[in-house]
Amino acid sequence: MGSLSAMEFVDNTLKLIDQRQLPNKFSFFVCKTWQDCDYAIKDMVVRGAPAIGAAAAYGAVLAAMQYKNHSGADFVNLMHNAMASLSKARPTAVNLNWAINRMLNVFDSLDWTKPEEAGNILKQEADCLHNEDIEKSKKLSLFGADLIADGARILTHCNTGFLAVPGPGTALGMIKAAYGSGKKLSVFADETRPRLQGARLTAWELLTEGIPCTLIADSVAACLMRDGKVDLVVVGADRIAANGDTANKIGTFALSLAAAHFRIPFYVAAPLSTIDPSCATGNQIKIEERPATEVTMLDGIKLAPDGINVYNPAFDVSPAENISAIITEKGVLRPPFSESIANALGKNK
Ligand code: MRU
Repeated sequence: MGSLSAMEFVDNTLKLIDQRQLPNKFSFFVCKTWQDCDYAIKDMVVRGAPAIGAAAAYGAVLAAMQYKNHSGADFVNLMHNAMASLSKARPTAVNLNWAINRMLNVFDSLDWTKPEEAGNILKQEADCLHNEDIEKSKKLSLFGADLIADGARILTHCNTGFLAVPGPGTALGMIKAAYGSGKKLSVFADETRPRLQGARLTAWELLTEGIPCTLIADSVAACLMRDGKVDLVVVGADRIAANGDTANKIGTFALSLAAAHFRIPFYVAAPLSTIDPSCATGNQIKIEERPATEVTMLDGIKLAPDGINVYNPAFDVSPAENISAIITEKGVLRPPFSESIANALGKNK
């Protein structure tokens, strides 16, 4: 399982595991154009902050291949439009902007009178970004594993493993690394309404790895904490503000409140590319709202009456004061996060 990857660039296409079909069907969605990639990110064929960043980087490669017969300013405009669209495919995970900015910097430094060369150069950059992400995931998983004691009962939310991240994962990467080092542990996986990433993906990923896992409805988590059945909570992140406020899958905020109330360590695991220093606090993080049908329908079955109003934010923000530590590829950041984050980003030197 360790070698499975959410994406692979083969034969000038981006081949994605179609996460919408799991766990019922293991199938692939093949992107031949940047528009296919844009759609795949929007429709959550591929999801998870680092994974959509890497997919978007490959989307830029597809664009360069599509437009290689255009020339001059025409080529540059087409590429800029494609990259602008990819960077906006989903608004909360900052990894998308981060990855596209990196691709844009390379693209803008090219001799754009030779469009036929752009595809290869951008492909090298996307591979580099993808490989670096894998290394970051491995490093942060090892740092995080040290925080997990033998016998720990861990609660997690959403999906943060290899499907969401190039490499072993963030929160799930920590769990896998701790388990791999011989620690006995067990995981409560929140089902994660409405898209059920916990039930569909995390439960599947942990079962496949042989890691003991119990699936719970989201509303069960606080009771488990009250009953002393959870030793730590660990989640991923979609965007972390400069002060440590963290946007993650809807439901994470409630978990952070319950963990703070019951004095249970609450960890966030994410690469530094998930930190957005341009957001001073979580108030500046844009929260994606998704279609009402994600709440009113389940696999084509109606769950609510026609005409009902629905509010469906995909993410929420957990305040820094509820977070015990942020685990990154540069080590474990502790409060006060304004300082530890600035240090990790090299801003306090
Ligand atoms: O809407 P999703 O499935 O893309 O949301 C994913 C999450 O919220 C993850 O917890 C987050 O991206 C961290 S993934 C390592």
